[in-house]
Amino acid sequence: MPKEIEATSLRDLLCGSVNENHVGERVSVCGWVAKRREHGEHLAFLDLRDRSGVLQAVVEGSVDVRSEYVVRVTGTVTPRPEGTVNVRLATGAVELSDCQVEILSIADVPPFQLDDRVDIDEQVRLRYRYLDLRREQMQRNLRLRAKVNAALRRSMDAQGFCEVETPLLWAPTPEGAREFVVPSRLHEGEFYVLPQSPQIAKQLLMVGGFDRYFQIARCLRDEDLRADRQFEFTQLDLEASFVTQEDILDFVSEAVLDAAEVATGARPGEIGRMTWAEALDHYGTDKPDLRFAMVLQDLSEVFAASEVKAFAAPTVKALRVAEGASFSRSKLDALTDQAKSLGAKGLAWFRVTSEGLDSPLARFLSEKEVAAISSVDDAQIGDLVLIVADEYVEACRVLGALRVTLGARPVGEGPHHYVWVTEFPLFEGIDEDGNLQAAHHPFTMPHPDDLSLIESDPLKVRSQAYDLVLNGWELGSGSVRIHRADIQSRIFRALGISDDEAQSRFGFLLGAFKYGAPPHAGFAFGIDRLVAIFAGEENIREVIAFPKTQSGNDLMTGAPKSISERQTRDLHLRFAPKGK
Ligand code: AMO
Repeated sequence: MPKEIEATSLRDLLCGSVNENHVGERVSVCGWVAKRREHGEHLAFLDLRDRSGVLQAVVEGSVDVRSEYVVRVTGTVTPRPEGTVNVRLATGAVELSDCQVEILSIADVPPFQLDDRVDIDEQVRLRYRYLDLRREQMQRNLRLRAKVNAALRRSMDAQGFCEVETPLLWAPTPEGAREFVVPSRLHEGEFYVLPQSPQIAKQLLMVGGFDRYFQIARCLRDEDLRADRQFEFTQLDLEASFVTQEDILDFVSEAVLDAAEVATGARPGEIGRMTWAEALDHYGTDKPDLRFAMVLQDLSEVFAASEVKAFAAPTVKALRVAEGASFSRSKLDALTDQAKSLGAKGLAWFRVTSEGLDSPLARFLSEKEVAAISSVDDAQIGDLVLIVADEYVEACRVLGALRVTLGARPVGEGPHHYVWVTEFPLFEGIDEDGNLQAAHHPFTMPHPDDLSLIESDPLKVRSQAYDLVLNGWELGSGSVRIHRADIQSRIFRALGISDDEAQSRFGFLLGAFKYGAPPHAGFAFGIDRLVAIFAGEENIREVIAFPKTQSGNDLMTGAPKSISERQTRDLHLRFAPKGK
């Protein structure tokens, strides 16, 4: 028998790869006992499981093995007797007979059944993650992740990028989330910061002449955890010199499409584009889910002189919900509550019926208004039209959120819809101290046409920042960076970052830029998110080997934990009594 790639000194084949072609061969396999069924007193059927699948072994005589024992079984591959073939199993046409069983390790009764068809409490799964990882779902997900990582590395390598590892013990980075800090033993009272991303390091690599850098980088952010957020996550991070935004979009598209091809078996078509302003106007969000249409419509002009008080606002936006006229009153009330919780003053709804519009507001409408509502987005009888009147951004955002509620589908459900969102605003608002806030980070290059607005009308300044969105999830972000000191000073000033503060926070980067900074740009996307979508999972925990719970605990190790007094002393830490 030719040696299989998975063969080792203990086994010839993986359980899942044994098939009719091996009939007659005597082979050894290793694995866990997934199930044991007795057949009379002296015959037992063992289902052996390894990472590749399950194989049945027929054992004669008495053998003392139970579920999850680790065994090595040597037997003869035999066709299963007629009528006992299991078509749901890849190995279901064969079994091992005339078996010798060697127990490699005994096992306690597992705390839950290791079967994908059984719903197991996630807390229990996380507490015993090493057992959970034996399940097919986790095996499949983590192997998919490995394939995606390998495809990304191949793609970046083929595009001439050089992989460089950057430090985990670092200084503050500019992503804006709370940071994890690590006390220094050698320098009393001083701390390292775990990087939120390799942002500054990769810009320094550009100054260092690595003109195409990438890294599969661990990033750490102490932020509230959600389905698409963990403290620790992984980015495909890249940066390149002597490029424009277009080059970066091409590099990233190529890498993501390569990964998609490997993960899903088909290469998606070219990735579409829209500006941030279009995304907000049409979908009410900067991460539009384009798997369903439901484009927001603008009725501001029609309602400009409306008698209806509810519509007295600068913007009136409408959303057609196909077949929504059948929604119950309580469902409409729930949508109204959602709109209010998002900051809207209210939500107007209109059922399109054969007798006209059905709504508490219908009798107040002018003919022109009735006509406009009845034909929103080609409305048909049986549809529902929702209207929010407010400031422009508010109206868009509220209806955008309702659009997602009404059109929502599991994030992994296909067909996958990628889109580039470009021309984000440079600043996203004003903080409590009256300073502008950077929408991306303070090194983002303004749009060349808007440079003159930085001081006079900063909220109008567009940036050269872009996001990649997939099925309504932000996959990644990037930007062209500022490499000119004069523009950087203007941005710091606008952000209320003084020269001293800029020096103390980013002095090493600004200093480096004095020695010849090439024009550069980059991007990073979340591999956890990408793989979760490929795997059809709603939560990135399902594609991470050892994730934290929503409350930031590792149920398996018990982290975070207190440390010994000795460590506390070594690290020069003193704790105030709890609650002080
Ligand atoms: P940004 O902060 O937008 O950009 O992050 C890029 C991508 O990283 C992923 N991500 C996360 N994934 C899981 N858990 C988290 N807590 C988490 N936070 C972020 C997302 C996100 O889109 N340095 C810049 C990139 C650049 O400009 O080159 C950056 O980190 O998928």
